[in-house]
Amino acid sequence: MITFYFTATGNSLAVAKRIGGNLIAIPQVIDTQNPHYKDDVIGIVFPIYSNAPPKMVRRFLENARLEADYIFAVGTYGNLPGACMFNLQKTATKNGFRFDYTNQILMVDNYLPIFEMDAEIAKLPAKKTEEMNAKIAEDIALRKRNQTPASWGWRIISGILGAIIRTDKNAQKYTVNEECTTCGICAKVCPAKNIAVADKVEFGNHCEACLACAHLCPQNAIHLKKEKSGKRWRNPDVSTTEIINSNNRHRDLP
Ligand SMILES: Cc1cc2nc3c(=O)[nH]c(=O)nc-3n(C[C@H](O)[C@H](O)[C@H](O)COP(=O)(O)O)c2cc1C
Ligand code: SF4
Ligand code: SF4
Repeated sequence: MITFYFTATGNSLAVAKRIGGNLIAIPQVIDTQNPHYKDDVIGIVFPIYSNAPPKMVRRFLENARLEADYIFAVGTYGNLPGACMFNLQKTATKNGFRFDYTNQILMVDNYLPIFEMDAEIAKLPAKKTEEMNAKIAEDIALRKRNQTPASWGWRIISGILGAIIRTDKNAQKYTVNEECTTCGICAKVCPAKNIAVADKVEFGNHCEACLACAHLCPQNAIHLKKEKSGKRWRNPDVSTTEIINSNNRHRDLP
């Protein structure tokens, strides 16, 4: 079994670890030419951004040839998933395969412009994340089939959101304060190779809007111009090193 994943603050990696298999971080294979993967089971776990998969996950699904007896997809989200998992089937169909199982799991919402992290953490017990994580892992182990339904209303709203909210374009509004020690961790957790650190931190123009840099800076030095929360989030089941190993594409950095 191969489980592909994309993660910024560890939620999706925590779910992927619980499901198991040979875990492959999408940023590590996104530049592979003519990607073709064959196994008995292939799956993908990712965070939902603006009711859709992250841009890099869409690119992966559009380019990769996935051959398996059973294919699954799990979206992690914080409040409103919209028709993300429903629409994902369309991407799959266009690429010549179908997900046998899709599901979504409510976790901490790491979207700093809207959500306050302490309040999000306080909501965790009511979100029943652990129970859902166990259920999804069991469903997949038993090769269950499931399609996530979506109302017509959500299909329309998610379509409009995906078209008008370009999180990648909105994402370059960061400030780095004087607490920065130029440690380079923000560059290493960035899945998009969008940060360079020499004597200061510099952002490029191909941000995925994942917020890994802001959440994982050990000095809490990276801030959005508009953020609801000064507090940051990393899933307790995942270390910063695991996220670096997943996302670091600057192999030449110290
Ligand atoms: C740019 C961005 C957009 C997001 N959009 C949504 C959304 O539309 N609906 C939702 O419920 N959560 C949304 N979230 C929250 C994440 O999907 C959620 O926190 C996810 O579990 C993070 O996974 P990760 O820790 O693996 O990065 C968004 C987060 C970010 C950074
Ligand atoms: S992770 Fe934080 S402290 Fe380290 S270089 Fe980046 S902004 Fe500076
Ligand atoms: S610059 Fe920050 S928000 Fe943008 S892709 Fe890199 S880590 Fe994610």
